[in-house]
Amino acid sequence: MRVLFIGDIVGRNARNLAYKKIKFFKQNNDVDVVIVNVENSAGGFGVTKEICENFFISGADVLTTGNHVWDKKEIIPYLNETNKVLRPLNMMEGTPGVGLTVVNTNYGLIGVANLMTNLFMMKSNPVFDYIEIIKKKFSKKENILFSIVDVHGEATSEKLALGFSLDGYVSAVVGTHTHVPTADYRIMDNGTAYITDVGMSGDYNSVIGMEKDLAIKKFKRINEKTPRLEVSMGNPTLCGVLIETKKNGLAKSIKPVRIGGVIDNTGL
Ligand SMILES: [Fe+2]
Ligand SMILES: [Fe+2]
Repeated sequence: MRVLFIGDIVGRNARNLAYKKIKFFKQNNDVDVVIVNVENSAGGFGVTKEICENFFISGADVLTTGNHVWDKKEIIPYLNETNKVLRPLNMMEGTPGVGLTVVNTNYGLIGVANLMTNLFMMKSNPVFDYIEIIKKKFSKKENILFSIVDVHGEATSEKLALGFSLDGYVSAVVGTHTHVPTADYRIMDNGTAYITDVGMSGDYNSVIGMEKDLAIKKFKRINEKTPRLEVSMGNPTLCGVLIETKKNGLAKSIKPVRIGGVIDNTGL
């Protein structure tokens, strides 16, 4: 199976690039399944039902989020209606929506989970307590052909430790949230594809997707009135990874994909 995972979509330009390129990339690279992190897709903060539905029309199978999931309150009822848009699994009990799903695609059953780390992040339940739940839900006897965990978090060490904890139990562990792609993509010893962060989909001539002059002002004025950050509207790069798996559900390869903008590596 060949799966494209795309990192945090930041704002309208990245969204429109994703709508346009997902289908094209899918056809040209024999991609079976597409998963997208959409936590910043609505003006940089949150996501709406309409945006989710446009991603599904464009070829996405499952959408993940993170700490920004609630920025647009209108998403709350939608998260209770669908099992294809995830919020972090380790949010406290009673939180709307689901953080783990098994869905049927044209290519068979796939499992997707969304975790949020604890270090330097908003408060959530201890993330390592959820490892056994994921292992159990995505075990081979459930006939799941491909399984992936979006590890949404700031600290590289914590994401790596989660990757090693899940190595051999899921097809891939991919990091999101920092908005900066890391170069450590590889297959771990027990067969799980791993990357600490796939990077954001947005304008890289910015500070993690936000207008750079406003971001600099914000850093300079710590303790004073800070300006509101706005999405940087330059030429976006769509950032993600292409994962190929073997018949046993473990990974054969993982490659970075960067389409458009200032860090393009595909020429598409
Ligand atoms: Fe993000
Ligand atoms: Fe985030």
